[in-house]
Amino acid sequence: MRETPEFETDPYERNWMRFSLVILVVFAAGVALAGFGLGFEVPGEHARVDPRTVTDSGPFADPGVRDLGGGEYDVYMVARAWAFDPRDITVPAGSTLTFHITSVDVQHGFKLQDTNVNMQVVPGQVSTLSVTLDEPGTYPYICHEFCGVGHAAMFGTLTVEAEGGE
Ligand code: CUA
Repeated sequence: MRETPEFETDPYERNWMRFSLVILVVFAAGVALAGFGLGFEVPGEHARVDPRTVTDSGPFADPGVRDLGGGEYDVYMVARAWAFDPRDITVPAGSTLTFHITSVDVQHGFKLQDTNVNMQVVPGQVSTLSVTLDEPGTYPYICHEFCGVGHAAMFGTLTVEAEGGE
């Protein structure tokens, strides 16, 4: 009689399998937390626009800063090869800015230096992100998505003025 061989997983193998399962659970929890708890989401249909007509009417027809009062500002910005409109923004320290940015041609990027603001700017979508800036100074914003020969010249400057102005 032949003995039935006993199958036993090698302890190392078993531990790596457990470890892999733990990683999966941690990642799934992270995605769930980001999506449901922190509100991270890709722009949906509500943020969809027609890049050919988005500057004809509505907020993107007149890009710039809107003072909402109480230190809150909306910034409507249009990205095109190879400039941001507006190119210069000035707000007082302690302001909360909500950027609404869209592209009218190709994919661009929007990164506000020394902050967590970093977005893709895609034609047909409005990218939105808020930031509160307490520190006076100048914050350059740059296009970080290669968009053609003028890419390196695509930037602007956000100035945060000390309370009470200069
Ligand atoms: Cu726009 Cu690079």
